[in-house]
Amino acid sequence: MADLRSGGAHVALVPTMGALHAGHMALVDAAKATGAKVVASIFVNPRQFGAGEDLSRYPRPAEADTTLLTAHGCDLLWMPGVDEMYPAGFATIVSVLGVSEGQDGAARPGHFDGVATVVAKLFNQVRPDAAYFGEKDFQQLAVIRRMVTDMDFGLEIIGVPTVREADGLALSSRNIYLSADERSRAAALPRALAEAKRAIEAGEPWETAAMTSLSDAGFVTDYVELVDAATLGAPVAGRPRRLLAAARMGTTRLIDNLPIKHG
Ligand code: PAJ
Repeated sequence: MADLRSGGAHVALVPTMGALHAGHMALVDAAKATGAKVVASIFVNPRQFGAGEDLSRYPRPAEADTTLLTAHGCDLLWMPGVDEMYPAGFATIVSVLGVSEGQDGAARPGHFDGVATVVAKLFNQVRPDAAYFGEKDFQQLAVIRRMVTDMDFGLEIIGVPTVREADGLALSSRNIYLSADERSRAAALPRALAEAKRAIEAGEPWETAAMTSLSDAGFVTDYVELVDAATLGAPVAGRPRRLLAAARMGTTRLIDNLPIKHG
């Protein structure tokens, strides 16, 4: 790591759980574009998976991941083992209140504690000048921003817009769980959000139409919520808003979100 900093180079961290795709690469590319040395981490973090979630079957294509990172000019790959990250006796949990409690935090108890804990460790291990996160996981980005501010981590958090397939579906390592039929119906999620965004910004009702298009496509909706973009609480006049959604297609849970002009 010391070599990377020689000559005063800035270091940018891109934390991931691997199974890398063009969404992850957009983070690496954005970091490279600043001239920083880029460290990518791959760690499938057991502490952010709930009981009955997909920890054991989470894809781990190490060779393909390495090839992709090399092709995008990543300078260093940090791949700690579980025992290295959480040695015997490990007893600390980083918990960000408020912003982590609604939406996915309510649906996945303990998830954001696991994320904040591992990301705090990665920040201390790598000590980057900046770290890159996707807007695809919008609540995660908000939780990390809050943690960095509250705990004086002294690094810059950069949010990168969601990379999508041609039909609008956000790229995700979990999309491979979808059958061909589910995959074609899954585009209803970004479509429902885009239609709701249009309606909200036009001052029209939107909730019933959004829920109906999702259930017509075979989704079981966890939530579709219009929130303040920073606190993820109730929208505040004159401040940026965000439309957040999570919905299940068969056994696969998908999330997505869009920016909404302030009201
Ligand atoms: P993972 O799901 O591998 O995602 C790593 C990063 O890639 C996250 O910041 C995520 O928001 C971003 N990303 C994923 N899909 C994207 C897309 N379609 N467009 C843009 N960015 C995208 O998120 C995690 O891992 C973990 O929770 C982690 C932060 C590594 C902590 O364990």
